[in-house]
Amino acid sequence: MNLSTYFMHLVGSGISAYYFAAQIRDPKTRPNVLAGFQLAESGSVPFLTALSDRATAEGDTWLAEKLTQHASDETRHGQIFAHALKQLNKEVIDFKNLPKNSQENRSQERRSPFFAAFFEGYSQEQLKPEVIDWDVFMGSTYILELDASKDFTRMANVLPENDPVTRNLKLGILSIAKDETGHAAYIYEAMMRRMPVASVERLVNEWRTRKTNAMLAFAGNMLQQKNTSRSMVQDTKPSETYSEVVAA
Ligand SMILES: [Fe+2]
Ligand SMILES: [Fe+2]
Repeated sequence: MNLSTYFMHLVGSGISAYYFAAQIRDPKTRPNVLAGFQLAESGSVPFLTALSDRATAEGDTWLAEKLTQHASDETRHGQIFAHALKQLNKEVIDFKNLPKNSQENRSQERRSPFFAAFFEGYSQEQLKPEVIDWDVFMGSTYILELDASKDFTRMANVLPENDPVTRNLKLGILSIAKDETGHAAYIYEAMMRRMPVASVERLVNEWRTRKTNAMLAFAGNMLQQKNTSRSMVQDTKPSETYSEVVAA
């Protein structure tokens, strides 16, 4: 990583730290942030499970086991956010109930400016778990997990402790941050098992640069207010029952 990338990385991580910390601290924006994280964390589970199956098929049982554990951690993270939302009498919108038109919009939006920049040069098809280049998966995931761990710690630290619900959320997010550190660590180990250290360094640098560019795209988008943040939450219906267990 050259100096200007490093400098821009600091700017980029400052932006995300400020943005997410401010959003989660404000009770008005908190439900939407929690919903976004619930969708992101739970959404990664089928991807990781499919990758674990592929690692098994390729004979890498070490990696397969790590990926299975990773998938179960992300399931738990999704549940922590779902539980926090439930305590605010909110839940993630059931996208299936939206009119068809907005469903289509949704799939268009799925490639956010952040991910478009982060995975520039790769088609959606190339990023599927059945075919994704392992180096691409590892380089990108290592950077995302490493940064997520720091972002979650910052978010937890700005949450006030004056009521039990928020204090519980804070502890939940801190435990998530700890898991994300563990994910970054096993991915790093996986890269070291596969390639010489110089190649690991090159891969990490490449994805650090991509992340920096993606953060700037994200920030630019926000500043231009292109990102009309849609609400991702609705009030819970009293008749509904929940069975999720949160093992915090
Ligand atoms: Fe997670
Ligand atoms: Fe993770």
